[in-house]
Formats: sequence, C-alpha cells, structure tokens
Amino acid sequence: MHPLSSLSRRHFLALGAGSLLSRPALPASPDPWAAAFARQQAHHPWLSGYQNAPLHGYGPLAISLPATWPKQVSGTLYRNGPALHQFAGQRYHHWFDGDGMVHRFHIANGTLHCHARFVETAKLTAERAAGKRLRAGFGTYYPGPPTRHPDDLNSANISVLWHNQKLFALWEAGSPYEIDPGTLATKGRHRWQDGHYLPFTAHPKVDENGHLWAIGYSNVGPNRLFLYHIGPTGDLRQQHTLAVDNLPPVHDFVLTKDFLVIPLPPLSFNPATAAETAYIDSHIWQGDKATRILIVDRADFSKTKIVETDPWWVFHYAGGWQDADGTIRLQAIQYPNTDIIYGPLRDVMRGHATASKPGDALPVEITISPGGKVNGTAMADLVGEFPVRPEASATGRYNDFCVLTAKLQDQRPQFTGIARIDLNNGVADRFEFGNQVSVEEHLWLPGKRGAPGWLIGIIFITNNSIPPCVCSMPETSAMARGRGLSCHILSLWDCMVVSFESYIP
Ligand SMILES: [Fe+2]
Repeated sequence: MHPLSSLSRRHFLALGAGSLLSRPALPASPDPWAAAFARQQAHHPWLSGYQNAPLHGYGPLAISLPATWPKQVSGTLYRNGPALHQFAGQRYHHWFDGDGMVHRFHIANGTLHCHARFVETAKLTAERAAGKRLRAGFGTYYPGPPTRHPDDLNSANISVLWHNQKLFALWEAGSPYEIDPGTLATKGRHRWQDGHYLPFTAHPKVDENGHLWAIGYSNVGPNRLFLYHIGPTGDLRQQHTLAVDNLPPVHDFVLTKDFLVIPLPPLSFNPATAAETAYIDSHIWQGDKATRILIVDRADFSKTKIVETDPWWVFHYAGGWQDADGTIRLQAIQYPNTDIIYGPLRDVMRGHATASKPGDALPVEITISPGGKVNGTAMADLVGEFPVRPEASATGRYNDFCVLTAKLQDQRPQFTGIARIDLNNGVADRFEFGNQVSVEEHLWLPGKRGAPGWLIGIIFITNNSIPPCVCSMPETSAMARGRGLSCHILSLWDCMVVSFESYIP
C-alpha cells in the first residue's frame, strides 16, 4: 500500500474523459436537436449525462468519508470535460463541443471537499456576454465570424495537466488555459514560447524526470506540427515546427525512451467545404491511403523518419516502449476508420442511441521493427477506450493496462465497466457496474511492489440509485470478487459519484 505521504497531488492528476453531469441549466429551445434530445430522454434515461451542468458550477461541498474509506487514497483529483452542451436555444451537434468544466476533489483528514467551475475561455465568456452562441464548435457549424486562430474554437474541455505546480485545462489544438488549483478560477491562456499562442495537445506526457513533452497541430492553411520539450520548472528546452503534408487531427502520441511516436491516420482536411461546415466535417477519410507513423528524436526534433502501415484510426494510446533490439511497441485502442466521430459521438447529442460497430475500439499492440515494418495484433476480445497505463514509468515497459469497457448490445456510446488487460497473455479482468452506470476515464494509482494499487475515477449513475455518502460494494462487483478487485463509491451531486477500485498488480 502507499504510505499516505507518497500519494502526491501529481499522482492524482487525471487526463479527462467527458464529464457527464446532470441538472439542466437552460430552458428548452426550438432547436430540432434539442427537441429530439428531450424526446429521447424518456426512452433512454442515461442521456441525462449529456444535459448541461449549471453555469455557476457545482459546490463547494464537503462530506465525511466513511470509516471503511481506504486510508491510502488521499490527495487531489482534477477532472475536465464538456459540460455545457446547450446555450440560448442552440444545442451543440457533437459531444466534443461542450464547454469545459474542471472538477476538484480533495481528500484529506477523512473529508472529501469538491467543487467544479466552467473554464472561462474567450469563447464562452464572449458568448455568455452576448447571450448566444457566436462561433462554430469543433463539430458544430454556426454561421459567424471566420475562425482566425484555433483558440477561437478553444473550449478547454478535454483534459487537465499538472506541471511545475501549475494546473492547465487543455483542448485539442489550442492554448492551455491556466486554472487556479484551489479556486478553479481561470487565470488565462498560457504559452511556453515567445510570440504567438501555438496549438498544444490535450494529451501531453510528463516523463520520469518531470520533463513535459507535447505536440500541437494546425492543418487549416499551412500544415504544421508543433513539438515541445519543457523542463521541470516550465522552461522551454526545445520547440520545433514541422511541415507535414495532409496533416490529420492528431489527438495523442506516445513517448518512448528516445522518441516521440506520432501516428498520422489518413484523415485529410478538405478546404473546399471548410467555409460552411464544422471543422471536423471539413475532413475526408482516405481509406485507400496509409497511416503514416512519424518518429521524432527526443534529443533533436529536426531528426525524423516516417514509416507507413494500413489505414486505421486511434484516439488514445495507453503508452509504449522500445525493446532492446530497437522495436517500438505501442498499445492503443484502434478503429478501422473515423465513422465513430460522425456517427455515435454526434448522434447522441440528438438522443440517438447507437453503439460502436463491431471492429471499433479494439485493444491492439502496434509494433514497429527497426527496419520500419509495422504490425498490429489484437490484445483482448473486448470493446474499450480511454486506456491508462501504470504511472511507475512514463516510457518503460509495463505488464498490463486498464480500459473502460462497453457492451455492443447496449446500443449506447458509453461505457459500463472497467477491464484490466494483461499484456503477456491477453487475459482481461472485467468489472461491470451495470446498465445504470456510465463510467468515465479512470486514473491508475500505483501501489508499492506486490501491494494493491488503485484506480480512481468518476461514474455517473442514471437513477441516483446509490444514496448519498455511502461507501459500499455494488451488487455488480460480485463478478470481480476473488480477482483482487473491490470498489468504494462516494455519492455527490445528483447522480455523480467518485469510485475507487483496488487491484492486485
Ligand atoms: Fe482524449
């Protein structure tokens, strides 16, 4: 088990999935998507996870932890996700678009303190002042002023970063927003380099020595990939800009001992449709083209090579490493194409209940030989997303990782369970919460050698079936007993709870 002192705040930092928050804050509107969403809620109660959070945020709230609460779990957890999906009569038409809300959960001395606030982005601030949406979103088109800078669309809604004692709310391809770690007040946009605010990924990596490695992209106009190495004290060590033809949106990458490994699936920007469509709709999947894998030398960003493989799409990588013979191994959740972006993740905003297709969201291992040959191997027979690896080493080998799991027959683009996949044999231990629960991305907290560690995260319970302030073993966890898993759940506002599951590594 962890000694209390070893669980630093950094251990608790989460890279967020979407926040699924209840309680509508705005009246119904004539928007056909809003009306369709409202109609479907009667049939699909889990859609309440796609309603608005209140504009003033949540909390503060303090609750006493039960006596059974695991003493080793303390510190601060930050989460981020889209939480304002509808505003002034307009409903966003994509799950990716909702304005970002950051949550803070602080556990100390037997008490959980928590609150949440919207990130006061330039976009949201202007729209609240105007009383209406002014600009398009990442996946929603509104007529309005042209987009001059990625930050025009920046909703700071994807993840959080803790680095150099600073907290940032991150978006897909805009500037990080610095957030006060105590109050969650928005301090403003941040840049590590002089000059322009440059795009910065939602999934940067912090290595074993506290160095921050990141990418950023811009594929509207000149195609540019931005690379960052930032020292432990926030000093910019290296920044380089690469020109890359047909640059796709690049959501994630892998950091190994020597490289930044940046796969580039064949999703190409189409300027012909950009003027009258949302950003993500101005792209074409080119299934007859290769996925390119860009390999960048960590010591010198100008040293690169590219290998090619079959076309596939990946949102998230659990991580990867280099074998002794130079083979690079990446663990990922893979899709045959980008249909999920334009289907389930959009349609849920009008209440359509569609699930992933067979073949989507498969855990795979991708190997790149020293000679540049790429192979992909399925690792486990399940549908998963939001993979997380142990934090013990940012670039070294690991033996298993965790994913959220879904059941295809559920006909909903959400997750109801958690699985741990053993990389050595592909065996997956699954923990199902049940159909009333939607699970968000969890974070893996390490245990000492041979001792249990912890998964920590947020789950959303549709019917508020767990009373406030309980710490209990849910019925559905029976299947996990005997596998070293136990579950502790705290109920908070409305239907949102924080859960912790222990596991035997
Ligand atoms: Fe992500």
